[in-house]
Amino acid sequence: MDSSKENKENIVESAPRKKRALSCIQPTGIPTLGNYLGAMRNWVAMQDEMDCAFAVADLHAITVRQEPANLRKQIYEMFALLLSIGLDPEKTLLFVQSQVPAHAQLSWILSCHTQFGELSRMTQFKDKSAKHADNINLGLFAYPSLMAADILLYQPDYVPVGADQKQHVELTRDIAERFNNLYGNVFTVPEPYIMKSGARIRSLQDPTKKMSKSDTNQNAYISLKDDPDTIVRKFKRAVTDSEARVYHGEGKDGINNLIEIYSSITGKTFEQIEQEFEGKGYGDFKIAVAEVVVETLRPIQQKFDELIQDKAYLEKMMAQGAERASKIAQRTLNKALKKTGFVII
Ligand code: TYM
Repeated sequence: MDSSKENKENIVESAPRKKRALSCIQPTGIPTLGNYLGAMRNWVAMQDEMDCAFAVADLHAITVRQEPANLRKQIYEMFALLLSIGLDPEKTLLFVQSQVPAHAQLSWILSCHTQFGELSRMTQFKDKSAKHADNINLGLFAYPSLMAADILLYQPDYVPVGADQKQHVELTRDIAERFNNLYGNVFTVPEPYIMKSGARIRSLQDPTKKMSKSDTNQNAYISLKDDPDTIVRKFKRAVTDSEARVYHGEGKDGINNLIEIYSSITGKTFEQIEQEFEGKGYGDFKIAVAEVVVETLRPIQQKFDELIQDKAYLEKMMAQGAERASKIAQRTLNKALKKTGFVII
């Protein structure tokens, strides 16, 4: 090796490496304002500071029954949406989970290192099995070990998620530590990365519950595809209380939720918001919240409408993402297989 090349490589090796982040979203319907403020918006902010990877977690989607044509449509839509919110495939790795076979492979290995008791304690499993009592399948139960594989394959330092996914990321940490203790250092043990603001956006109809895209009541959530009139109407109907004074306080779940949405978008503190709406009623406040949401979603919706027409472009981006992701994932998978005692040829 000539000495200048050697020097260059040394410099590259000794430069501190950027932190890495990975997260995914299920393509089960158009995301809500909760998904956006709790997770997706933070991903866009992170892509300049960290090496980021974000995926459409389509394998997870079939833990509840999906209509095939609809699932396919939603995979395209979710991928288009990742691009529409401002994730840049030049800087950030964007891919579809099922197009990278290493996820399912590592998931098996990790399943054999995950305890029945741990999986039984997962809140999401309990909620979803209550909701889909006629289809409590093995995949639904093993969901967290697939999620652990999604994460650990890319050796991230951080997993940016909303508060509801914290339990799964903590289980991922336990699995990674257990694996590393048994076989030597294979996985980076990641940390959940949960923003204070927007981490738990609640239903507009029952603010004790999280805002969810699978809610049967469409007035309970704002979809990223809702048009301005729908957004205004849903906020006008949002459940509040009878006090009619805008402040963040105990027993005011509905107003607290609207204040959190407004604060998360405008960057204003709760105190500033309370001052801004002093002497004004809930009606004015609801309109103001609706307006900032409409303006936030407008450019995303415009970009989405363009991209969703261009399937060829989306497929090209998916193929590029899958190729890059597979290289990284395969490296980790091989390491895990080798350490566990398998023969790599
Ligand atoms: P999913 O698809 O339900 O949600 C995607 C992201 O949105 C966040 N989120 C919320 N944040 C604030 N308020 C809400 N009301 C709200 N609802 C959802 C979620 O916390 C999540 O960050 N299991 C994951 C997908 C997944 C994954 C992974 C995530 C699969 N593999 C690997 C991280 C790493 C899920 O069902 O998210």
